[in-house]
Amino acid sequence: MLHRMSLPPGFLDELRNRVSISSVVGRKVTWDMRKSNQAKGDFWAPCPFHQEKTASFHVDDRKGFYYCFGCHAKGDALKFLCETENMGFMEAVEVMAREAGMTMPARDPHAAEKADRLSELAQVMDAAARFYRMQLNTGAASAARDYLAGRGLAQTTLDRFEIGFAPDNRQALWAHLTGAGIAPDKIVEAGLAITPDDGGTPYDRFRGRIMFPIRDTRGRCIAFGGRAMDPNARAKYLNSPETPLFDKGRSLYNAGPARGAVGKDSPLIVSEGYMDVIALVAAGFEAAVAPLGTAITEDQLRMIWRLSPEPVIALDGDQAGLRAGYRLIDLALPHLGPEQSLRFCLLPEKMDPDDVLRASGVGAMRKLIDGAVPLVRLLWQRETEGQVFDSPERRSALDKQLRTALARIGDPGLRGHYAEELRNLRAGFFRPPQRSGRQGGFGGARFAPPMQPLPATRATLLAAGEGPDVAERMREEIILAILLTHPSLLSEFENDLERAEMRGPGHESLRQAMLLGQPALDGPAQADAVRLLELGHVRIAPPVRQKDNLELARNCLREEFAKLFTRRGAVSELRDATEDMAHLVDEGLTWRLRQAAEMRNSAERSRLSDSTDLGEDRSALSSQLDRLIESQVWVKRKK
Ligand code: UTP
Ligand code: MN
Repeated sequence: MLHRMSLPPGFLDELRNRVSISSVVGRKVTWDMRKSNQAKGDFWAPCPFHQEKTASFHVDDRKGFYYCFGCHAKGDALKFLCETENMGFMEAVEVMAREAGMTMPARDPHAAEKADRLSELAQVMDAAARFYRMQLNTGAASAARDYLAGRGLAQTTLDRFEIGFAPDNRQALWAHLTGAGIAPDKIVEAGLAITPDDGGTPYDRFRGRIMFPIRDTRGRCIAFGGRAMDPNARAKYLNSPETPLFDKGRSLYNAGPARGAVGKDSPLIVSEGYMDVIALVAAGFEAAVAPLGTAITEDQLRMIWRLSPEPVIALDGDQAGLRAGYRLIDLALPHLGPEQSLRFCLLPEKMDPDDVLRASGVGAMRKLIDGAVPLVRLLWQRETEGQVFDSPERRSALDKQLRTALARIGDPGLRGHYAEELRNLRAGFFRPPQRSGRQGGFGGARFAPPMQPLPATRATLLAAGEGPDVAERMREEIILAILLTHPSLLSEFENDLERAEMRGPGHESLRQAMLLGQPALDGPAQADAVRLLELGHVRIAPPVRQKDNLELARNCLREEFAKLFTRRGAVSELRDATEDMAHLVDEGLTWRLRQAAEMRNSAERSRLSDSTDLGEDRSALSSQLDRLIESQVWVKRKK
């Protein structure tokens, strides 16, 4: 197999120079000749990567790139071939080189030699695997056998995975392999022995470890993983170095057998470690693979998709596991399609699949796998986890994040469905607690019920729903303080007060006390009242300070109540805006949100103009209060 690396320098540039991108793309699209300017190497066509009638797909012959203004697909001629012909990179190079009349370096006479060298190395690896296997049965390996038995591995499993043992001896393997006539430099090249810096006799890389052979999809032994038994060992797992055989970012543990086992009822499970794969297979989940000591790479993701269209990624139940999942989302987004996606199952705290199987059994693992959530759910969790969306700014920042993620999805049809799903999640997330009589404007059940959030999301949701935001709390404080200092206004605002359930600390008991006719600073709510009146922004508020200015106090109360009510109502208007989440990918949503904000503002305005004689000074006062509240909010946020 020819690798990109083996192309001579400048080969690709020469190739790109010889073949115009418009000639490659032109076979797949019909140019819009009115829009195109052939002389300038400027071509337009309906995009081959998404459904459209207009021509938003642009090809620039001079730069050698294509870009779609609709779905943002972009790349060069080689990428175009890969994407539209489903070719690998080197395959595309070959096709283009043939057209350009360039000789592929693969045709060089060394190719066969190289292949021989690789198979020779693979034979050395196989000899080592056999040696390690045999060692597991010797007296020196009794601790290793105990260890494996302690981890619940049956003999059939040991056989199946060819698990072995590297003796704790400087040159056991070396002596064995050289004794069998294998050339020393091959042993070193295979990564099995290390030449000391001083140039002395090489020594074994793996010593005193349980050995896991790693085979490629063709069954060649390409590497080893070695696990220390001593929990204090410097490295729990030691893996083969990169060798001509082993490219760890392009290999998966157990890929070969997993490929044969993937089926309708057995999704491919991607776990983190060797032992997870082994435990999964032993428990009957035979389609299991793992990367080799690193985060999943793009190449591995491609391999995984070649094995199965919708693999289940089993994430360790800790922050690191979650982070790994989040990273994988970014890798996956551009490549997602109807036939190519991911699911995630989140394991219990601090557990990997091996732990789950041993602690809770096959049934528990089956449940976790069956309950795996689609990628979109984890994406949602990533964007919302641990955050509080208590302001339009924060909500719109979220929308922007979601739009960015959506824009990265290459497949236009799928992008629409993602937008829809995110819209639903968002609606469930911002839906205010259902109150009697407020079922949302146009007849209750327009939204799919929000799905059960992942445990972590639920926790943050609850946390976010715990209390009012700062601005809301301050409004409550101002209202209560004005009523405390102007008790004669109580009867006039009784209806408003009745409606205005309060959520700030101690506010509700104060409100109840007032509704029960205990306006004075006595009774059980006294402490709350005193504390309230001592708050900085309350003390300096003119309607609180000017105890004799009843008119000012009255106007302020009207205003503050009105704002409190519209603010609480506004959440459902925002929900209306999310109806158009399908347009999230374009600027439609921003517009709708702006409109919702407008609606809210005009609601506030009309409420105010209902309440008769509004003087100039009152609205001046109201904006003064607003400014005050805003500045307080800002100060608190900065802390
Ligand atoms: P884990 O630490 O999760 O190990 O590493 P594990 O698979 O659960 O192994 P046990 O159950 O403790 O035996 C996951 C994977 O990361 C790589 C290995 O591939 C391992 O399977 N790894 C881990 C290393 O390469 N080196 C290490 O030191 C640790
Ligand atoms: Mn483990």
